[in-house]
Amino acid sequence: MSFFVIDRIKSRLHRDIVADPVLHGAILNLYLNGEAYPHRVDDYFPVGYVSEPELAAQMTRHAQEEDKHIALYRKAINRLGQEVVELPLSCIFNAVIRNHTEASFAIAANDDPDARTLKVAHFMAHAHCLEKRVARSLEYHVEACAHSASDYPTKAVGAVLADEYEHVRYTGEAVNALLPQRVANQVWAHHRRAEWRGNLDFSASQLRRVLVEHGQRWSGSRRGLYRASAWVLSGLLQVS
Ligand SMILES: [Fe+2]
Ligand SMILES: [Fe+2]
Repeated sequence: MSFFVIDRIKSRLHRDIVADPVLHGAILNLYLNGEAYPHRVDDYFPVGYVSEPELAAQMTRHAQEEDKHIALYRKAINRLGQEVVELPLSCIFNAVIRNHTEASFAIAANDDPDARTLKVAHFMAHAHCLEKRVARSLEYHVEACAHSASDYPTKAVGAVLADEYEHVRYTGEAVNALLPQRVANQVWAHHRRAEWRGNLDFSASQLRRVLVEHGQRWSGSRRGLYRASAWVLSGLLQVS
């Protein structure tokens, strides 16, 4: 499947979702639960183990902005007349990526400074790859939001996206600044592969979930298109 075809299907999917307030609320809940994920674990944003004041300040601001995004999504979901829901970890992109990630970022009290720095870098590389994919998804979504029943989601997603670009930028720079190039390359390879696999896994499972829970809202041809897309995504995961 070419990039052009994938791009057209993703654009079509986001427009189909935005055209229906129930589906629009459902996808905004997916984004919201990703933003709230740091509060469900104890190893995100290890600011206390970062010795560079500027990087520590960037991480603190990053965490605060993710909390601001929770509020924006919450309001957008309410404006659509939908409910905010707490989803299981299997429906959270961060957690699905971590199912494909062997590296740990949980810092132990007896880790030496080098081990701590490596784990901070692993967290930043994980965050970078994740944020980059989320930003791309939000680009599709904000374009589709022009067709939404409420104009608030367009504003909310646009504001989130502007912050995500900055998160992508600084996390990427941090990994390369924290580690020697050879080690950084290994860390990047690890997290790019985890995110690639996590994205296939997450996209296929969420597409199937939407088809099961809301498929009757779409025409038969649309259901066929998205069922085939989920099948292709799962196939790619098997061979990657
Ligand atoms: Fe965010
Ligand atoms: Fe972010």
